Amino acid sequence: MTKRYLFTTALLLAFAVRSIAGEGMWIPLLLEKYNEEDMQAMGMKITAEDIYSVNNSSLKDAVFRFGGGCTAGMISAQGLIITNHHCGYGNIQALSSLDRDLLTDGFWADDLETELPCEGLQVTRLVYMEDVSSRVLGGVEDNWTRQQRQDTIELRIQKITGEATEGTHYSAAIEPFYYGNQYFMFVTESFKDVRLVGAPPSAIGKFGGDTDNWMWPRHTGDFALFRVYAGEHNDPVEYSEDNSPYTPLMHMPISLNGAEEEDFTFVFGFPGRTQQYLTSHAVDMIINTENPERIALREMRLDIMDGYMQQSDEVRIQYAAKHARVANFYKKFQGENRGIHRLKAVEVKEEQQRQFQQWADSSPNNRRRYGDLFPAFGQAYEALTPYNMAFNYVIEAGIAVELVPFVRNFGQLFQAVPDSNLAQIKEDLQKRAESFFNDYHKPLDQDILAAVFEKYAQDIHDAFQPVVFQLVENEFDGDFSQYASYVFKESSFTSLEDVEAFLADFNATEQDREALRKDPAYQMSASVFSSYFQHVRPVRDSLNNHLDSLYRVYLEGLMKKREGDYFYPDANSTLRITYGKVEGYKPQNAVTYRHYTTLQGVFEKEALGEPDYTVPDKLRQLYKAKDFGPYAAGDGTMRPCFIASNHTSGGNSGSPVLNANGHLIGVNFDRNWEGTMSDLMYDPNQCRNISVDIRYCLFIIDKFANAGHLLEEMTIIMPR
Ligand code: ARG
Ligand code: GLU
Repeated sequence: MTKRYLFTTALLLAFAVRSIAGEGMWIPLLLEKYNEEDMQAMGMKITAEDIYSVNNSSLKDAVFRFGGGCTAGMISAQGLIITNHHCGYGNIQALSSLDRDLLTDGFWADDLETELPCEGLQVTRLVYMEDVSSRVLGGVEDNWTRQQRQDTIELRIQKITGEATEGTHYSAAIEPFYYGNQYFMFVTESFKDVRLVGAPPSAIGKFGGDTDNWMWPRHTGDFALFRVYAGEHNDPVEYSEDNSPYTPLMHMPISLNGAEEEDFTFVFGFPGRTQQYLTSHAVDMIINTENPERIALREMRLDIMDGYMQQSDEVRIQYAAKHARVANFYKKFQGENRGIHRLKAVEVKEEQQRQFQQWADSSPNNRRRYGDLFPAFGQAYEALTPYNMAFNYVIEAGIAVELVPFVRNFGQLFQAVPDSNLAQIKEDLQKRAESFFNDYHKPLDQDILAAVFEKYAQDIHDAFQPVVFQLVENEFDGDFSQYASYVFKESSFTSLEDVEAFLADFNATEQDREALRKDPAYQMSASVFSSYFQHVRPVRDSLNNHLDSLYRVYLEGLMKKREGDYFYPDANSTLRITYGKVEGYKPQNAVTYRHYTTLQGVFEKEALGEPDYTVPDKLRQLYKAKDFGPYAAGDGTMRPCFIASNHTSGGNSGSPVLNANGHLIGVNFDRNWEGTMSDLMYDPNQCRNISVDIRYCLFIIDKFANAGHLLEEMTIIMPR
């Protein structure tokens, strides 16, 4: 009995270390301390210092945050970066028009002169990071009020970041880790001149579309190339024709050796947000109240968009990126719910909480500090649930009507004074209107308004409803379609011509202001925002602050309880390392998924005849001729994608996937269906990250696009 018990415990412990290592998103600065040994035991041949070095250039200098929420890897000494096609999608769309459709046809610059500047796109490099916990938290006492604590921390953060950036072009941010038990500072530099170099046609870069999104097996060539430009001194400056390609401190060698089963692999990038320490109450709230509503509201919008996009090519291009954005999380929420149910995550968390409670109760000191946490969590989440629901309706219904956030901008006109700022405000609004109406289809938005507002009025407590719903009740008999046609007929803000006419007439007289106030779209917009700001946000924020302080104590307790264990912080959009192995998985009884796909699969999918599976002729010719150059695997197959057990999240798109030598073997772009719940709970048996094989990218660049000149600036390691 005892022997058996000991054996099981040892086994569990070994499993715990391995699985925790797999699910962590580790801090690069602390790799040497916590992970190097484990990584090397798993097969890594380089050192933690090669990945993140305080004093020398290291791999981290080749990893960039790309745009608002992706990652990119530096692959040449001339500033060339690789990310996902879906990360550059908005930029590629913005450069497209009906006669020059880069989404459909792809784009390949012949030389530096023909690369296309991307307005508004930035990439950011981490210069260094630093543990500033003691400077931020030193002397902060537990019995302080929340306000006192917040103010003190805020002030110190300002001081520390100010000192760190003084006299430099750097920016600095200090982020809480483990719910404020630790603080790290990130000093960064941002490059503002970034140009499109190459993108495959959507039939390759988005092959499989939303049908295959969040799924394995995958055959998507989800990559695109951009170039970072810098000023005279290799410094980050605004766009100028005179800028030259940026010379990076480091670029990643590319290996043609591929990803073989069991190979060690790691991912370097900027995962956005994971919440693996949430209590059972929170997970219950997310999967039982939040996700179902968000799914239902997104489904309504997608159905309406689909209808209009199928009718017109113009609308299809206008709404391509918007549709993809809505569809992406529509599907993710469903996968997440499925995975959480499968794992019985709520029950598992309840059991963990029972164990924590037992531990807390076992000593008077712990009992005092940690003993009453769970009842407090329970109460807080019960109070939060209706506010959270109201918040989700603001997001998924209120501002899902495009007119609502757009028209809000016109509120600036109330501050306008003739002969002072009026002209400037008008010019700003004119610019916004031009860009808004460029990608806007009025009937589509009107239908969405009618559909989602009706559900809003049905499902959300009166106290949280925009006051304008009262008008719909009184004047339109509660009929939201009638209300929607009234808004779209009467408002001055539903077409560029009308907006221009309105601005031309607006002279900031009391009468003009009154006309603005009475505009039906303005009223609608104002009422959505004011119901949120008055009735939802204050209480929701204060409950969330309260929860954050509970989590801070809970995490402190967890760390104490599991002393000596690996402990990973949630993702928070800062640079992280995750590591694992190239490996397949068993999604269900009797089914095993292999770790890679081959080009043959592209043609199997094409035969299904779905629009998401269209294949360019050129690719077919190359496949038939087996014209794969040096990019084929050892067995002669061309392999578009592979999977591995690295824990990734939203934001890891475009992240370099590296092998044991620190050479680039793939670009991360998705998670598998069975693993989409990993933001909340990770399952080492089911969670895989999906990457496009770098050999497929090079094959497309070289053989498909005849852009072989780009390969000359890369450092390519030929197969063994
Ligand atoms: N699921 C991936 C991610 O979260 C890819 C999304 C882009 N692709 C798409 N079909 N919407 O970003
Ligand atoms: N496609 C996601 C992104 O844009 C990455 C996939 C994931 O969420 O794991 O960041």
